[in-house]
Amino acid sequence: MPAHPLRELEAWIAAAREAGVAHPASVAFVTADAEGRPSARTVTLKRVDSESLVFTSALWTRKARDVAANPHVALLFHWPSLGRQVHVTATARVGPRALAEELFDEREELHRWQAVVSRQGEPIEDLEPLRDRLAHLTRVAETPPTCPPDWGVLELVPSAVELWEEAPDRLHERRLFVREGDAGGWTERLLAP
Ligand SMILES: Cc1cc2nc3c(=O)[nH]c(=O)nc-3n(C[C@H](O)[C@H](O)[C@H](O)COP(=O)(O)O)c2cc1C
Repeated sequence: MPAHPLRELEAWIAAAREAGVAHPASVAFVTADAEGRPSARTVTLKRVDSESLVFTSALWTRKARDVAANPHVALLFHWPSLGRQVHVTATARVGPRALAEELFDEREELHRWQAVVSRQGEPIEDLEPLRDRLAHLTRVAETPPTCPPDWGVLELVPSAVELWEEAPDRLHERRLFVREGDAGGWTERLLAP
């Protein structure tokens, strides 16, 4: 079987988790707006599917607006204690509503209420009213909230994945996988470090 970069990425995330790395699935997610102005933020990968990567996000946010205007994105994982980095180039889209609901229901209850109470990214005067509302809702609500209509998943379909591994002699291994057409095949080549 030829190597598949997403299976290797899964194995590297699992290795980071086993090594006790904090936030092993957290990753820098880079978007650009319609004018090509870039922005980056950390997100936490929820799934590595057969040909895509998935994380959750409010859909009114800057990252979601950027993706709607320009689907070309990048991801950068770095596990310093393992001497490993993975760079992914991908196209992004909003994923299925059913998956958003499934992943929303998996969140801790406090995190679900937080997504309802706080309009992430909107300017506010003070955190206290949000804290009061969060405390009130968690106290009085009989059931946890359901997935808000404008909260969802972003699904990233990679076109290139580079697995970088540090070597003691500084001749680090750089394996670049490039997707071949839409058939799901990948070519692999080695790059000089
Ligand atoms: C470790 C870590 C994990 C995070 N995970 C997520 C995530 O999975 N989804 C998300 O929308 N924001 C996550 N955030 C918050 C984002 O970094 C960011 O502040 C927020 O999504 C707003 O970004 P935007 O305004 O560029 O869209 C995380 C932050 C940190 C530090």
